[in-house]
Amino acid sequence: MDPTLGRYPTSRMRRTRSTDNIRRLVAETRLGPQDFIWPLFIKDGEALREPVASMPGVERLSVDQVADEARRAEDLGIPAIALFPMTDPAKKDATGSEALNPDNLVCRATRAVRDACPEMVILCDAALDPYTDHGHDGVLREGKILNDETVELLKRQAVLQAEAGCDTISPSDMMDGRIGAIRAALDAAGHQEVRIISYAAKYASAFYGPFREAVGSAAALVGDKRTYQMDPANTDEALREVAKDLDEGADMVMVKPGMPYLDIVRRVKDAFGAPTYAYHVSGEYAMLMGAIENGWLDRERTILETLLCFKRAGADGVLTYFAREAAEILTRR
Ligand code: PBG
Repeated sequence: MDPTLGRYPTSRMRRTRSTDNIRRLVAETRLGPQDFIWPLFIKDGEALREPVASMPGVERLSVDQVADEARRAEDLGIPAIALFPMTDPAKKDATGSEALNPDNLVCRATRAVRDACPEMVILCDAALDPYTDHGHDGVLREGKILNDETVELLKRQAVLQAEAGCDTISPSDMMDGRIGAIRAALDAAGHQEVRIISYAAKYASAFYGPFREAVGSAAALVGDKRTYQMDPANTDEALREVAKDLDEGADMVMVKPGMPYLDIVRRVKDAFGAPTYAYHVSGEYAMLMGAIENGWLDRERTILETLLCFKRAGADGVLTYFAREAAEILTRR
């Protein structure tokens, strides 16, 4: 291309920004309800909706309410929800054995959503942290998180969740080798059609704080998760994590947290071309809501711009606590 062709005053970049119609015509990225995965917190109870203090607008819901929310998601065109249980502390122990109870909260919620919305994509985390009394994602012994013993439990947890109606297992634990092991376990149990969305590049992040309050694992957590979650300093390592997970059979991959890690999203999408998702995590939600509630940021514009940026960076979708509100705004327009 002759660069002088594009030189001012012959060329004026503002011509394609001058009206709403032309802007819509040249937009490279679009955002819609189909881009969202909506996370929901579940708690034991009946007709319960309990606010999460550090996440204004987010509530813990009893199983009956979760089914209602899933119907709402479906009406709004949101294709997927992710379920996170707040386990009664009395049911927590060192190995997270409640994870293997086929009637635990997440399995009951999954069955309720599956009944209410047969077509809904349902994500269930494979990880032990909602169930362990020390708050870690794996089995803790003598100060160490045991990789292979944890993977054995995750396999069984994933099969139980699939049996409850979960169609998309989301291993969020960051143990080595868990994707291949979970894939083999699902297949052996006849669940060849159940997908795996791997939290492949999951960082040891300060931005998970409000989530840990929401599921009640914050108070329990002993130490930090840096021996299994990734160091925020690294990117090449993220590519190796994603390569391994895809090789082991992951159908989709996730990068987490979201906005501070868009460089990782871009590299992962460019390198593998796999379905790639970003988790806009609880701390990011809390930051934005803090500013929005103070009147420092415009609510709707901030929400939509934030979510659009994930798509521009290469994400095929976003797991976000704003899913419902963003879908409402977008369907109103
Ligand atoms: C647990 C899990 C966490 C999140 C999702 N699954 C927390 C953690 O790893 O400590 C965080 C999500 C968020 O902050 O919104 N394995």
